[in-house]
Amino acid sequence: MSSPYPLFKDELNSIKMIGIFDSGVGGLTVVKEIFKYLPEYQIIYFGDTARLPYGTKGANFVKKYSEKITRWLLDRGAKIIVVACNTSSAWAADSLKEKFPNVPIFEMITPAVKTAVKITKNKKIGIIGTPGTIKSGVYKKKLSELDGGLKFYSKACPLFVPLVEEGLVDDKITEEIAKRYLVELKKDKIDSLILGCTHYPLLKNTIAKVMGKKVNIINPAEAITKDLKEFLKKNPAIEQTIKKGSDHKFFFSDEPYNFEKIGHLCFNKKLNPIVEDPFNI
Ligand code: DGL
Repeated sequence: MSSPYPLFKDELNSIKMIGIFDSGVGGLTVVKEIFKYLPEYQIIYFGDTARLPYGTKGANFVKKYSEKITRWLLDRGAKIIVVACNTSSAWAADSLKEKFPNVPIFEMITPAVKTAVKITKNKKIGIIGTPGTIKSGVYKKKLSELDGGLKFYSKACPLFVPLVEEGLVDDKITEEIAKRYLVELKKDKIDSLILGCTHYPLLKNTIAKVMGKKVNIINPAEAITKDLKEFLKKNPAIEQTIKKGSDHKFFFSDEPYNFEKIGHLCFNKKLNPIVEDPFNI
């Protein structure tokens, strides 16, 4: 078997990890689900805190750094890549799949879209995310590919990210802002809402309260992890190479200011971040 990556080649017979990346600490919501559904596997995480937010950056910037991070993770022993950042998934997943054709790459959009299509009854689906994710139009594209009869409504909710990072997850202020952001989606009578940003699953209770009981709230972090689990089951040759253990590595390109807070909200345990910027800007 040949590999296009030098380090991959040297390590082909050695043990690998699940590589996960995000623009910062928000991707820990994906790690949370991986710890829940796939607790035995060792992970390597990279958060690009030196360059966040990605949600308001242009497509080329997000593509460029998503590619650099993917290469870096592969060189560090990742066998599978999980693009935990929704904005990277929106702008960069297709180009990553083209550039790394031999690597299993999981992105946040497809599993969430498949879940939404499965559970919607009135065929009206809402999506909330960063300005970049919404601007990319990727959800609309994927939803209409699956079912041309679907109606699709979206809203960028940029304030949700800083609110979560401040720990204001069950707070009156957050609820007021959610009411303001979600008013149109409520009027549109969607019956399913995709939380299309790493941080939003931590606001699930508040968002569900604002949207009302009839709206299904879809957490892409859960959906992607279920897909990954299925993939590992169907691909034992890959599964067997992934290291089992809990010596997880969390790398950040700059001080992960809210790592502890978000880590605590996600899994209630202390993790040690390693700060290192491999891209020397
Ligand atoms: N991780 C980003 C996302 O899921 C949110 C934070 C950012 O804008 O960088 O889209």
